Amino acid sequence: MSMIGLFDSGVGELTVVRELIRKYPGADFVYLGDTARYPYGNKSKETVERYAVEDAKFVIDQGAELVIVACNTASSLAMDKLRATYPDTPFLGVIKPAAALAVTQSKTSVGVVGTRATVGSGIYDEVIKELNPKLKVLQKACPLFVPLVEEGMIDDQVTKMMVRRYLMPLRQKNVETLILGCTHYPFLQPLIERFMGKRVKVINSAEAVVDKAYELYPGLFKESKDSKQTISFTDASSHLDSLASKWLGKKFVGTAVSL
Ligand code: DGL
Repeated sequence: MSMIGLFDSGVGELTVVRELIRKYPGADFVYLGDTARYPYGNKSKETVERYAVEDAKFVIDQGAELVIVACNTASSLAMDKLRATYPDTPFLGVIKPAAALAVTQSKTSVGVVGTRATVGSGIYDEVIKELNPKLKVLQKACPLFVPLVEEGMIDDQVTKMMVRRYLMPLRQKNVETLILGCTHYPFLQPLIERFMGKRVKVINSAEAVVDKAYELYPGLFKESKDSKQTISFTDASSHLDSLASKWLGKKFVGTAVSL
């Protein structure tokens, strides 16, 4: 059996798992959503590092041979700390795969939406400019998107209003591509695409990271007969189970764990 570990603050990584099981339905994975301590996106670097180290320990203890940091906030702030703490485990964050995909599709400008921590870290700007210094990067923090998604308010008037309010400046500046720099945001992708218009290519960081993980570690995606796919939450509830089952298209019941 080859096991892929994933973690996020909450249901954001479901967008990564959806891509994973859509492309590799038999892949083994262990998923942790740190719902007891979400959101991460408005916390300090020190706190996000501490949480990420504990989340990674859980999935490594469950047998993960690769850890996908399925959270842009932790990928922005905690990768060095994770690699220093667990030098024998490979870690893959979402930032570089998403930035690389956006760069291949943009000639002048890239928009980035994410949590306050991700946007404040400036990491997308840095990585995109390293790949193509000519690109203009326009960023916007959208802190209310995460609680709206966690509430399941995916096609709601309030959410539509917030999409308009947050994204108007990027639409007015005519960005060519828009990176969904938070793994919660693909839940809102249809609303975001509708608002930004057909001209703007929306890049889903969840999709990009699964493709990169397969490119780097294809052996981990093999189908096994007794495929093991588990979902755990630090604060489990039937609300989360129904969100997960609806989004993933099959029944999942989250196990409650403490770290
Ligand atoms: N889904 C996460 C991200 O990609 C975390 C959101 C949050 O907890 O604020 O940044």
